[in-house]
Amino acid sequence: MTDAQPILEARSLERRFVTKRAFFGAPTIVRAVDGVDLAVRAGETFAIVGESGCGKSTLARLLVGLIPPTGGDVRFEGRSIAALDPRALREIRRDIQFIFQDPFSSLNPRMTVGALIEEPLRTHGIGSARERRGAVARLLDKVGLRPEHADRYPHEFSGGQRQRVGIARALASGPRVLIGDEPVSALDVSIQAQVVNILEDLKDEFGLTLVIIAHDLAVIRHMADRVAVMYLGKIVEVGRADRLFAKPAHPYSEALLAAIPVPVTGRKPVKVALEGDPPNPIAPPSGCRFHTRCPYAQPRCASEEPSLRDVGGGHMAACHFAGDLNLTGVGADVTARSEAAQRRFERYATARAAMAVKIDTNKPSREE
Ligand SMILES: Nc1ncnc2c1ncn2[C@@H]1O[C@H](COP(=O)(O)OP(=O)(O)OP(=O)(O)O)[C@@H](O)[C@H]1O
Ligand code: SF4
Ligand SMILES: [Mg+2]
Repeated sequence: MTDAQPILEARSLERRFVTKRAFFGAPTIVRAVDGVDLAVRAGETFAIVGESGCGKSTLARLLVGLIPPTGGDVRFEGRSIAALDPRALREIRRDIQFIFQDPFSSLNPRMTVGALIEEPLRTHGIGSARERRGAVARLLDKVGLRPEHADRYPHEFSGGQRQRVGIARALASGPRVLIGDEPVSALDVSIQAQVVNILEDLKDEFGLTLVIIAHDLAVIRHMADRVAVMYLGKIVEVGRADRLFAKPAHPYSEALLAAIPVPVTGRKPVKVALEGDPPNPIAPPSGCRFHTRCPYAQPRCASEEPSLRDVGGGHMAACHFAGDLNLTGVGADVTARSEAAQRRFERYATARAAMAVKIDTNKPSREE
């Protein structure tokens, strides 16, 4: 794979949901994901953030192939998933795995943890029974659980431990990409940090690409190399995390950042913090969808839809005035990453090409 080619890509991706009203009235259409273009690069941690209902989970499910798009395309290493034959599709299902928000509801309560982690190996016909048992023990160890945990059932575990089981299960088939839909938001804050650390360690060890969906920007600041901000089914800003946090280019990102609850010294006051709920995605506002809540809106914003454009160095924003507005981010104290993330980011930013080679050689063997 070349450095230029993303590992995972969305092109004009759309997912509409049609909900039928009882008796009278036309069906309503929710444009949950409404024309999303994004490119996730091998080895990075790519975060997708936005308020509740903006389409994050729908986008994650589309990327992993859990639901089909109603328009557009998802590509893995340049190949359109929709065009694959069943065998190639099975292979890709091993390559892209999903971590659920609520590990309890995603784990069959009647199966032991060992059987749950082994299941993907069996499904994909990986290894003999003995090899699979060995793989389960290794995976438990990787996520900080003990071998004897294999004989227990999900209800015997705490929330954090169950999420570790969910991660071990996602790792079992030797994926290249892990997509986590709010993977730590159901956990206590102290446990969140442990699970984030595990994800970062596994990412380094296995050369994984992580796509993390979150509404909590505090988690994202620890982990992400790049961030995409979603609003009402569309991506409104995407760029390097450090830059987006320090100097957002879209008013919606500025408002999201203003809501981070941190004891910040020296943060400039933000023009207006985000108020009220987002508009109904069944009837999104005309023009720029954010104009009904944007403190910088001008008359043209209500009629002309801005497209994503480069505001410098590959940083993209969908605002007519992006680049002209002097928006406020959060200070260095908030943009500071965890040490592991900072090390990874530096490696990533300075040696992308070398890193792509490293990822290929680090790929875990299919037999594991
Ligand atoms: N199966 C479905 N049928 C109808 N509408 C749906 C369905 N799934 C999602 N939606 C709608 O699509 C929009 C996006 O939902 P989605 O769950 O992707 O948002 P989200 O950003 O993940 O929100 P949250 O942060 O609350 O998890 C919402 O308006 C939601 O009501
Ligand atoms: S295009 Fe207008 S309404 Fe939209 S974010 Fe920019 S200034 Fe605000
Ligand atoms: Mg969601």
